[in-house]
Amino acid sequence: MSDHDVDDIAFLTGSPNESGFMVNKRAMYEPGAVMVCSQKRACCVVTMGFIAIIAVALIVAFTKPGCPEATYTGEPVPGMSSHATSIPPTTPPTATNGEEFPWTDVRLPFHVKPLDYHLKLHPNLTTKHVAGTLIIKLTAIEETTAIIIHGRDINVTSYSLHNKYGKPIDIRRFLVYPPHQQLYLELSEMLRRGSNYTLNLTFETNLREGLDGFYLSSYKDSDGNKRYIATTHFEPTSARAAFPCFDEPHMKARFHMSIIREPRHFTLFNMPLKSSSPTNESDLVLDTFQESVEMSTYLVAFVVCDFAMVSNMTEHKVNVSVYAPLTMISQANYSLRVSSYILDYYDKFFGVPYPLPKQDLIAIPDFGAGAMENWGLITYRETALMFDPVHTSSRAQQRVAVVIAHELAHQWFGNLVTMSWWSDLWLNEGFASFMENIGAGIAEPGWAMEEQFIVEKIHPALSLDALMASHPISTPVTDPAQIESIFDTISYKKGASIINMLESFIGRELLKEGLRLYLENNRYSNAATDDLWSALTEVTQKHNTMLDIKGIMDTWTLQAGFPLISVSVQDGHVMASQARFLVCEENVTDPNEPHNATLGYKWQVPLTYITNNNPDSSTMHWMNLTDIEFDLEKDVTWIKFNAGQRGFYRVNYDPEGWDALIHVLHTNHTTLSAADRASLIDDVFTLVKAGTINASVALELSQYLVAETMYIPWHTAFQHLFQWVSLSFNYPAHTLMLEYIHTLILPQYNRIGWNDTGTHLERLLRSEMLSAAVQCGNTEAIQEAQRMFQDWRNNNQSIPPNLRSVVYDTGVRYGSKDDWEHCWQVYNTSTVPSEKSLMLQAMAQTRDPWLVQQYLEYTLDHSKIRPQDVMTVLKEVSKNPGGRLPAWRMVRQHWTEISALFGHGSFTMGAIIKAVTSPFTSSFELGEVENFFRDVEVGPGERALAQALETIRLHIQWHEHNQEDVTHWLHKQLSKETKAEETFPSEVE
Ligand code: BES
Ligand code: ZN
Repeated sequence: MSDHDVDDIAFLTGSPNESGFMVNKRAMYEPGAVMVCSQKRACCVVTMGFIAIIAVALIVAFTKPGCPEATYTGEPVPGMSSHATSIPPTTPPTATNGEEFPWTDVRLPFHVKPLDYHLKLHPNLTTKHVAGTLIIKLTAIEETTAIIIHGRDINVTSYSLHNKYGKPIDIRRFLVYPPHQQLYLELSEMLRRGSNYTLNLTFETNLREGLDGFYLSSYKDSDGNKRYIATTHFEPTSARAAFPCFDEPHMKARFHMSIIREPRHFTLFNMPLKSSSPTNESDLVLDTFQESVEMSTYLVAFVVCDFAMVSNMTEHKVNVSVYAPLTMISQANYSLRVSSYILDYYDKFFGVPYPLPKQDLIAIPDFGAGAMENWGLITYRETALMFDPVHTSSRAQQRVAVVIAHELAHQWFGNLVTMSWWSDLWLNEGFASFMENIGAGIAEPGWAMEEQFIVEKIHPALSLDALMASHPISTPVTDPAQIESIFDTISYKKGASIINMLESFIGRELLKEGLRLYLENNRYSNAATDDLWSALTEVTQKHNTMLDIKGIMDTWTLQAGFPLISVSVQDGHVMASQARFLVCEENVTDPNEPHNATLGYKWQVPLTYITNNNPDSSTMHWMNLTDIEFDLEKDVTWIKFNAGQRGFYRVNYDPEGWDALIHVLHTNHTTLSAADRASLIDDVFTLVKAGTINASVALELSQYLVAETMYIPWHTAFQHLFQWVSLSFNYPAHTLMLEYIHTLILPQYNRIGWNDTGTHLERLLRSEMLSAAVQCGNTEAIQEAQRMFQDWRNNNQSIPPNLRSVVYDTGVRYGSKDDWEHCWQVYNTSTVPSEKSLMLQAMAQTRDPWLVQQYLEYTLDHSKIRPQDVMTVLKEVSKNPGGRLPAWRMVRQHWTEISALFGHGSFTMGAIIKAVTSPFTSSFELGEVENFFRDVEVGPGERALAQALETIRLHIQWHEHNQEDVTHWLHKQLSKETKAEETFPSEVE
């Protein structure tokens, strides 16, 4: 089924097997991107020549000239073990002036450490020119004769270094090495260990046109005039594109910021404004901010804008404000309320109060990710922050609450305690993803957020992690593109899922206590995964729970994948074995698998189960890297493993086991919780996909759905059932599947109706059910949706928020060119981000080939489709049967342009590859994709490409295994139903 979230980041709410996000890391390593330094204007001159000569002599005597490695005796920098980089550096590295660049590593040495930065910027929003001055106070960790610092696309116009007495230290050479985005300052004297120095730089750069660094964004005011704002997005490695800095997460420092602006604008920074004063230049104002806390560079943010604002003081006295264009500010109240509430709640949850006096949330019109947790100044995509009760659907509202809860969780997990190096990114993102359901659930107790965890996190993570092309949660990365590539489903959703599993066996209270200890031990500092395990071990031991937390969790973080637990029961004796689950059969014996298991692909599995004797309370056995056997009590008629699907594994039963569970579902499905029902559906359909069990098992199980009324199992079922529809495209099973799904949904469709009422989950279910009805060709549903569409179009009749998606989609799918044009016009004029997002999705539903093509071409024109939305358009069009081939052709034809827009080899390109190739199901199409990418360099998009190719192979495998069985089963089943209908027509009505 078309999934009605137009995602900010494809993997966040996207369909299984898709991990992607959109951040424009433009031309990081493009050959043309050079930094220049006008050495001539270097203002430091060594005046005491004699001393200088002695200093030089000493350096020459004790070190290899200009080679910091020679003086480097410090501890290894965290995560620095791997030197792999996907960008072949020049050998030997050659600086822009042709001289050898003496530092070869893409990581910085840890000779010097920044203490604080005084940064002053003057961005001109008209010319895009940015002038900067920067003073960095440093301390020398080791004796060294060089300072190496990051910079990208920055023209350093002067530099000087002074010791703590203000005495200048001569900088003999200033070198720039664009492939590693580094600047090298060669000093004429040795910096003394433990001494402080001051580095002064002046520089120039431009506001960037992409979506990272310090960049320009724009919006239209109520008169239709274009207004510009300047904003930042630094994570993971783009602070260096705004100002020279030690751009690694462990190099924390304090920031003093000032910005020169025009009077019509105001500025925001991580910290509150300290003062505003006129400058010498006419009409300009200098804003100076309070000093920041110690923080990593990627969390720095500043904005120059003319937005409106709403604000509120939390109970704990933090000033929370939401900023947005004036035309949208009425949609900011919901986020203000939710964020204030969650911020206070997290204070209590984490046991450490939020340390800053303010928290700003701002909606940025052009934004690559969904949101960014900059400390005290969180930036959001408009759709992730704006909510209007009349227009916005429950799904989009939930997205707002969830994103807010996620970014606020980062204020502790990520900001206060930061991963030492990006290889442990999951500590940031896995935790924030785990907390987002808790935070949103606290703000919205009626939303069953914790129950939704299964469908939002565990299912998509299990789906991706069943591919050979998955990767371990902890993965070595070094260069910027590699770093970017791990912002994926594994770090986010598998990370969240294994914390959830950990919580299932130590409990919420111990988890909380362990997290508090971890935060307390590492605040304003950095940590690695083992620091978390040791804090948790400490608290569990204190409470006499003797668990080897690290031993257990290492099996989940260091190996890719997860186990399939195969269970057979004979006379009350259970035998459970574990083996890595790979959904593509051919991979099982692949000798070239990329991620060698450190633990032989065996896991420490908390194997839980419930039985008919005790359906409400589960029993647990540990599988400690092994298989296990145990006996059940008497009279067990059915047993369901992985109770509540808290564990990150799948279960296969023997045929009797499946039969017994199917029987329970058919006779009284509420014996099992909604989570257990969803978990059975997800497992059974996936095992069919893998060819492990016959399709008839899944189909027989699915028949119980006629009686299912809950969102969570239905959502799971829709994902799989409609995937089968799309897989059998062009085969007889296609229409049979639609017919069959129709028989399953009909009772619920009739029950749920077209009134947008009920609980949050009922509304979510209605939206999906109506859309399913339309897709199954239910004429009444199609007519009702079309009627509402025309009423909206012609009479301006408002549509209830949760019906909009199905109404707009259907209106366009069965509508005319004029209907499409109407949506285009609404897209261009609406000031409601959730509405624009629905338009973007609806326009992709057209069956008119000309309109499909035109829409695709709009993605090449930034004035029509903003770069932030290109990926959504390509993805939605690819889901349209009439759009898949044009989208694939379009991406191939314009590969160079699209690549240039998002950055050659960027992660977005990986996400695009996945989006356009995911509908393919034949060997012919596989060949086409392989052929195209044989000649195209995808760089770090390699993993996404491997995942895309594996997904196509999986689809082919599905055909080979299941096409016939499915067709046969459906024929039989549907003819049974027709017969029944003929015999008892009134009952089916
Ligand atoms: N730290 C990320 C933002 C980010 C994403 C930076 C990718 C660099 C690359 C932020 O906390 C985040 O994860 N945002 C998500 C939203 C969240 C609810 C999952 C996003 O961007 O969609
Ligand atoms: Zn995050």
